[in-house]
Amino acid sequence: MAISFTITKEDQQSRARLGLLATPHGTVQTPIFMPVGTQATVKTMTPDEVRACGGALVLSNTYHLYLRPGHDLVAKAGGLHKFMRWDGPILTDSGGFQVFSLGPLRKVTDQGVNFRSHIDGSEHSFTPEKSMEIQMALGADVAMAFDECAPYPSSYEQTRAAMERTTRWAERCRLRHDRDDQALFGIIQGGMYRDLRLQSAAELAALDFPGYGIGGLSVGEPKPLMYEVLDYLVPAMPREKPRYLMGVGSPDCLLEGVHRGVDMFDCVLPTRIARNGTVFTRDGKLVVRNAEYARDFEPLDPECDCYACRNFSRAYIRHLIKANEVLGIRLTTLHNLRFVLRLMEDIRAAIAGDYFVAYKDDFLKRFKMD
Ligand code: GUN
Ligand code: ZN
Repeated sequence: MAISFTITKEDQQSRARLGLLATPHGTVQTPIFMPVGTQATVKTMTPDEVRACGGALVLSNTYHLYLRPGHDLVAKAGGLHKFMRWDGPILTDSGGFQVFSLGPLRKVTDQGVNFRSHIDGSEHSFTPEKSMEIQMALGADVAMAFDECAPYPSSYEQTRAAMERTTRWAERCRLRHDRDDQALFGIIQGGMYRDLRLQSAAELAALDFPGYGIGGLSVGEPKPLMYEVLDYLVPAMPREKPRYLMGVGSPDCLLEGVHRGVDMFDCVLPTRIARNGTVFTRDGKLVVRNAEYARDFEPLDPECDCYACRNFSRAYIRHLIKANEVLGIRLTTLHNLRFVLRLMEDIRAAIAGDYFVAYKDDFLKRFKMD
């Protein structure tokens, strides 16, 4: 077995749990937020900086690395860990979601997906088998099954067709996957339809994957609807396997997800908003790019322990961003990563200390949402 998952504590007031996910590149604590390194880099950060922020497991993307520089080249470099010099665990997404986001550039059949590269327009096709070949060449610790994510909103019939295809593709992924130092997770689909979600969870559980992604959420639906899906879906998933809510990472969603029993999260949000000059604080988002911070000599977040907040002011970082100096977005990225990774540390401490629900309520009372 490539990974093992041990639940070390279950909260009594919620479905939150603490766990240890052991991989060939080390053991990480859950619940965990995984910084996104789409192109084999967490944008603007060195691996040491990601580590210093508390990053333990990094996500990367099959679609992007297949197109550029190519999975063969990454394999030749000795695998993704060596290529990007991240010696901790890595998870790769399957390419399913990225290819579906291409819109008119793609065509889906039961065989797979034909698509055009967003880089040069060249034609390619992904099948479940191809996704496995690429992910095995990349050599992450965790690979994801090739799935079809129905857009939001989608009709019942469309959503059912995508979910049933996802199950058939998951079987094909399992048949082709044969790297015993890599775990393969299934992905549950089914949109916002309870019976489809439960059918997907049951069919994938029968295939006995070592972990399960929850796909097809945070695709434009209202947050309360996502929480409702998690309320009935998570209890229908295997208790002893890691549960990974894909593409979710705003502070409020992390807390609500953990509350409902999710163990793993990833999202580009913290790093993406950092690059346009928005940072998280305990009171909510702050657009440090705005004129109101031109003479503000406070740190981005006075309660943050990151390198940016220990050394620099909002006024200075605003100046860097306005002047298009790369240090500006490096500092906001560092801060936002530290903010969400520290939130996860605090969440784990709260579960361990039996005060998770109180911690969550206090955090959300203060954190202003937009
Ligand atoms: N990332 C966010 N949502 C999804 C999803 O539904 N499928 C995959 N493969 N990745 C995702
Ligand atoms: Zn900070």
